[in-house]
Amino acid sequence: MFRADLLAGKRILVTGGGTGLGRSMGRRFLELGAELVICGRREDVLAAAANELADATGGKVTTHGVDVRDATRVEAMIDAIWKEGPLDALVNNAAGNFIAKSEDLSPRAVDAVINIVLHGTAYMTLACGRRWLAEKRRANVLSIVTTYAWTGSGYVVPSAMAKAGVLAMTRSLAVEWGGRGIRLNAIAPGPFPTPGAWERLMPNPEVARRMAGKVPLGRVGEHIELANLASYLLADESGFVNGECVVIDGGEWLKGAGEFSFLGEVMSDADWDAMKPKKKS
Ligand code: HXC
Ligand code: NAP
Repeated sequence: MFRADLLAGKRILVTGGGTGLGRSMGRRFLELGAELVICGRREDVLAAAANELADATGGKVTTHGVDVRDATRVEAMIDAIWKEGPLDALVNNAAGNFIAKSEDLSPRAVDAVINIVLHGTAYMTLACGRRWLAEKRRANVLSIVTTYAWTGSGYVVPSAMAKAGVLAMTRSLAVEWGGRGIRLNAIAPGPFPTPGAWERLMPNPEVARRMAGKVPLGRVGEHIELANLASYLLADESGFVNGECVVIDGGEWLKGAGEFSFLGEVMSDADWDAMKPKKKS
């Protein structure tokens, strides 16, 4: 789908790049010629991912252990990364989430999610942005949100609040920094199975089955589909896209929103026939 050197010469940091969608995006960026930096809390997971990705693609991967909730450690990591050379792009992918009845959430549970998704994303983006602005360097920030950033969703309320904030950050900074060469965009994925999300969000196979059933295309997403979209948004060729949030969900959220979209599930052919205008005799 792309030129093999689409991302050549770009140094890209993916937060949470050791697992799931972050890892799949990182692999695609390497295949397209980028140099990859990944960070997360578990250094063993990062090291294993880095080895596998480098072996599979022949690309360069470096790792940094960090908790993005800790602004001081984020600054130290970005300093260490810059000592080896500036980044060209940041992918805010790290997240925390779980399903719970909202009335049962403790303050620490609320903070655990919001501090990773909202505060962590802000710390990372500001740490990189300050350096890019000082160096007058063109750069790119891509944040992974969800479609419930604007619809909201029960049972994942701290995540919905935090993702909505990340979307607001994306649109705000796209305007504030766009004139100085920094683009910010977001991707809102529908369901893409990963161990990290599925073990926390799918309490049983029936929930997972119903999740796929909500998608008009009748399936969940494939990682390569999201990785290709991310690659497009990080490439110079998408240079006029700024402040956008691209949905990749097979039509899931629109189906949920459309007033009559559920009729296909409850109307038989006979029901539809009965709704046709009667022939005038
Ligand atoms: C209620 C919970 C809970 C749960 C944790 N807590 N899990 N409360 N239900 N299932 C509470 C704890 O009791 C504690 O509060 C507080 O949250 C902090 O818990 P810790 O385990 O100490 O937190 P921590 O080790 O920092 O872990 C953060 C985490 C964890 C968010 C809780 O799940 C995590 O590390 N997640 C990272 C990966 C992840 O979530 N991936 C999924 C992304 S999918 P108390 O008061 O008891 O001390 C996604 C979108 C999916 O974002 C959309 C799909 C379509
Ligand atoms: P995942 O594999 O659990 O990825 C989350 C990553 O974030 C992990 O690598 C984790 O590594 C890292 N992380 C979590 N807390 C961190 C912290 N405090 N500091 C640094 N890193 C941290 O889940 P995923 O499904 O791939 O999710 C990736 C992104 O896609 C998330 O933004 C998620 O909201 C979004 N998304 C996913 C789906 C889906 O269907 N999968 C749908 C919509 C949106 P450590 O635990 O080692 O820190």
